[in-house]
Amino acid sequence: HSLSRLIIISNRVSAPTDSNSGAQGGLAVALAAALREYKGMWFGWSGETTDHFTGHINFQRAQGVTTATVDLEEQDIDEYYNGYANRTLWPLFHYRIDLAEYERGFAGGYQRVNDRFADTVRPLIDPDDVVWIQDYHMFPLGSSLRARGCKNRIGFFLHIPWPPRRLLGVLPEAAELVRHLFDYDVIGFHTEEWLESFCDYAIVELGATLDGHTLTLGERVLHVMADPIGIDATEFIEASHSPTARLAFRRMRDSAVGRDMIVGVDRLDYSKGLEERFLGYERFLKTYPEERKEVFLLQIAPPSRGAVESYQKIRAALEGMSGRINGAFADVDWVPIRYVNQGYPRDQLAGIYRAARIGLVTPLRDGMNLVAKEYVAAQDPEDPGVLILSRFAGAATQLQGGAILINPYSAEEISDAIVQALKMPRDERITRWRTMMDNVVNEDVVWWRKRFTQALMGDAKVGE
Ligand code: G6P
Repeated sequence: HSLSRLIIISNRVSAPTDSNSGAQGGLAVALAAALREYKGMWFGWSGETTDHFTGHINFQRAQGVTTATVDLEEQDIDEYYNGYANRTLWPLFHYRIDLAEYERGFAGGYQRVNDRFADTVRPLIDPDDVVWIQDYHMFPLGSSLRARGCKNRIGFFLHIPWPPRRLLGVLPEAAELVRHLFDYDVIGFHTEEWLESFCDYAIVELGATLDGHTLTLGERVLHVMADPIGIDATEFIEASHSPTARLAFRRMRDSAVGRDMIVGVDRLDYSKGLEERFLGYERFLKTYPEERKEVFLLQIAPPSRGAVESYQKIRAALEGMSGRINGAFADVDWVPIRYVNQGYPRDQLAGIYRAARIGLVTPLRDGMNLVAKEYVAAQDPEDPGVLILSRFAGAATQLQGGAILINPYSAEEISDAIVQALKMPRDERITRWRTMMDNVVNEDVVWWRKRFTQALMGDAKVGE
């Protein structure tokens, strides 16, 4: 009985760096750990462009993880990454039909790139391998692999929300896209809500039938599951005790001169509710003048997907808002918003989170949101801060017992929650934090990954 390897495929591939101070996201860390365990390989886009697509694979090996990447053509990036993935699917799947653009060229380029990925990765897949495809860039890849004779177990995980049936209906290729998903063996979402919306579409629009976790369409049988992703809690707690984190903590405390820091950390994306967050904070400044100079907001927002117009617009809007609010409220020795457009390494962030009395996480819609969990993991157990969390983030299903849940569209709710958090007695902060921390530690990234790979691999012996 030969052993299976795990092949992970995603648009972004991040090779493990030598120090754990690298600016890699939680998912990258998590998947690298899975690959080490299962002796697999991680395949995807190199992040580079080439004049003419060759399918040449660049293999690299670092810390027990093999990565295999390919360059894409300029036109591929335009139509697939900046086009269908980030101008069509991303807004639509975050319930923003007002921002979604529909062009046949985007859909065509998206399919072409998925076919190119399939052509390239197919020869690397051995008969016993198990394939795990990640996120909305690659919905049809399973189908493309099947068309090339791939009979392996193939799973798919979606890291963003799945929109309600009637919203998805706006997408010209909706039915085709969902049909493609029936070429997988297992499909996972972060919450029951996204899972339910997916099944609803398949049942009502395509005539699929659901029995427990089994969705059937004609000959195809799909195992569907809600499997919320977690962070590597051990790694993050460790990071929060690192010398770099301590330094960052002290730097923040010193610069706060006794004021309470509120922190937000997000990719600069309209789904994160940053404009609404600024308006909620402004409402707080207006409504509670006596609290005003006791706090400040640190908003870290590294720019993202800058080639896409809606991202240029949100960036300009936030520059305007932060300038306006600072101009209106600042004093000679105090600025209400520190607005920062650069990213920071994880260990530094951990120190910043620990120094913040409030974590402000207010996405309008978010598949999960790992910043909320990282904020919790970085707190001092004796004197933890308070998490204010959007009820529309996937993370709310797990952290609702301890976070202050708010509707991010309501400036009043954000403003009231800030005051509630500032006034919250230490006992209550500790109780709430413990409830959240239990979840962050128990339902961590290993728990997430094992639940999915077990469903995908069944009884197969893997990697040992
Ligand atoms: C979200 C998506 C990921 C994506 C990440 C960064 O978390 O779910 O698939 O990699 O954003 O976005 P980018 O476009 O820079 O890869």
